[in-house]
Parts: sequence; C-alpha cells; structure tokens
Amino acid sequence: MGISSNDPFLLRVARGEVLDRPPVWMMRQAGRYMKAYRDLREKYPSFRDRSEIPEVAIEISLQPWKAFQPDGVILFSDIVTPLPGIGIDMDVAEGKGPIIYSPIRTSEQIDNLHPLEPEESLPFIKPILQALRQEVGNKSTVLGFVGAPWTLAAYAVEGKGSKTYSIIKNMAFSDPSILHQLLGKLADSIATYVRYQIDCGAQVVQMFDSWAGQLSPQDYEVFALPYQQRVFQQVKATHPETPVILLASGSAGLLERMTQSGADIISVDWAVDMADARERLGKHMKVQGNLDPGVLFGSKEFIRDRILDTVRKAGNKGHILNLGHGVLPETPEDNVAFFFETAKNLNAVAV
Ligand code: CP3
Repeated sequence: MGISSNDPFLLRVARGEVLDRPPVWMMRQAGRYMKAYRDLREKYPSFRDRSEIPEVAIEISLQPWKAFQPDGVILFSDIVTPLPGIGIDMDVAEGKGPIIYSPIRTSEQIDNLHPLEPEESLPFIKPILQALRQEVGNKSTVLGFVGAPWTLAAYAVEGKGSKTYSIIKNMAFSDPSILHQLLGKLADSIATYVRYQIDCGAQVVQMFDSWAGQLSPQDYEVFALPYQQRVFQQVKATHPETPVILLASGSAGLLERMTQSGADIISVDWAVDMADARERLGKHMKVQGNLDPGVLFGSKEFIRDRILDTVRKAGNKGHILNLGHGVLPETPEDNVAFFFETAKNLNAVAV
C-alpha cells in the first residue's frame, strides 16, 4: 500500500512519516463536556440507542469534528459493545458505566460463549464507520477502538466497574485456568472485531486495557500482555498496514513491558514525564499523549505551555498529541477549542 501524501495527517505519522507538527485528537472527545451531546442525550436517554442507532452515533462522532476539526475522529461506541454478540448481555448505565446482568463465574458459562460474528451482532458498525470516512474524507483519520481481553474480562467477571477487582483477582490467583479460558475466547473475538472495524473503514485502531494498571507487573505478564499479543498478532496477520495503539491506565510501572505487545504506538498518561517515557520506550516506539486532562481547567497560557512542553519532550517524530486519558465532563468547551487550535498551529520551527 505504501504512504500516500493524500493520506490524512494522523495516519501518516502513525505509519512513521515525519511531519512538521504532531497530529492531535482527544480521548472521549465526543461526550458529556459538549452541550450538543447533552442535548442529544435528552432525546436518546439510552446509551445503547445513542451508540447503536447509526444516525445518532454518526452525529455524536461528528460533533467534535464539526466543532474543532481534530486530526482523528473516533467511533462513538463503548468497549462493552461487542459483549452481547458473544453471549454476555449488558447495558451502560448513566453515571455508572457498564453493567453485566449475569457475571461470568464458571467454566460452564464460558463454554456457552460463542465467537463474535460482527455482521450479525454489530450491524450498526459498518454504516457508522462508512459514514465517518465519507464525511471527513482525507481531512482527518477515522479511529476504531476495542477493549483489551483483561479489561473486558474484568467487566464480565465483576459485573460492573470495581475499585478493588476482588472477584477477578480471586479467580486469577485461586483458579486461573477458568480466567485463561475466558481471556482466550475474548482475545479471539476482539481480534475478529478489530479486523471488522478496519474492513469497514477504521484507519487506526486503539485498544484500551483500562484496568491493566491494576495488575502487578508480574501478573500483567500472565493475564494481560499475552492476550494483547494474541489480538495484535491476529490483526497484523491480515492487516499489517493498519497502525494499532495500546493504552493502559496507570501504566507507569508497565511501559517497558507494553512494548512487547505488538502495538505500534503506546499511549502514555501524565504520571510519567514524556521525556522519561521516550527513554523507557526506546526511540523506535511511537507515543501518544500525555497531558493531564485537568490541564484544560487552566488558563490559556497554562494550556499552551503544557502543550509546548509535551511536544518538545516527545520530539518531532512518531508523536500523536493527546491527553493522557479521557477529557473530563466538566471541561469548558472553549478550552478544548483552544487546545486544538494551539496544537494545529504548531510547527517544527516554533517548537
Ligand atoms: O473517545 C470517544 O469519544 C469515544 C467514546 C468512548 C466511550 N467509551 C463512550 C462513553 C470510548 C473510547 C469509550 C471507551 C471505554 N468505555 C473505556 C476505555 C477508556 C477509559 O476510560 O479507560 C472504558 C473503561 C469504558 C467503560 C465505561 N463506559 C465507563 C467507565 C463509562 C463511564 C461511566 C460514567 O458515566 O462516568 C462508560 C460510559 C460512557 N462511554 C460514556 C461515554 C461518552 C458516558 C456515559 C454517557 O455519556 O451517558
């Protein structure tokens, strides 16, 4: 396929080209901090409706595109969206997040799960991704995303978000074969889903291992890393040209190990200085991040200084500018606009 100068900016940098400023997008850029999103939420109170009715999901995905022209436009969805398609029913509750009605606790339940068939169980994904590509053309890059096996297993086993992860850790440390059975099945279905998103138009895919930072590094090597590898290996076997990003929240103790996942780009949070992250990841690994989302509560001068500091520390090659995690719901839209404007006006000389 090769690199074409018609390709959008973020995709070119993700594939290794050196351009004169870093591409920029924001995790959770579609969502609650935007008035347009809150207004639409009144009309469609169910998260599953908002993310599974193509016209609504398309409109929400495009709200930040229309307001700020980021270099990346991410599919509006959730990491738990594919679970019903493998036999795990769920909902996403307002203010709480995912709810799994019958949490997975036994080997019999895992035997009853079935491989994902995206055409059948996720019929809304193709029209959404096709419409996003159509709308942004080569002016922005369309990103898909999935949850990683460990993080989806945490929701499936706990039944909801958790502070301690006691139930899944009990399983991991007292009966690991059940958990490995679940992680393997999830990895294969997640790989199928990533390939499907790419076939439908996603140009870069990010995998969220949001709860991998809850594991000690030695347990990360047993319960998270091998399954990240299993997903990325399967995806690279059929789609070697599509860049993949890996994020784990609270990953400061895991960065070196994350380079073994097979990801092309590691998303770094603000608990690590970007210059240190660069050193620890090695000069061949591309990076994404890593402003504290709270920076967007600061003054315009403060936001600008932090952008410049991050961009200098990351260097001009293989960096996608982003927050270290999702934008916070209370963030002023004006500051988000300023963040994008400042980032898009950077150039190599000024930095
Ligand atoms: O980035 C984007 O703009 C795409 C949208 C997106 C959502 N969820 C929409 C959403 C993305 C990328 C996700 C991923 C996701 N979902 C993750 C990984 C990212 C991370 O934060 O580490 C996780 C862990 C989930 C699970 C989940 N879904 C949580 C923890 C919550 C938040 C609960 C809350 O209300 O604070 C959700 C619900 C959710 N998913 C919302 C949005 C916009 C908020 C609910 C709403 O708007 O009504």
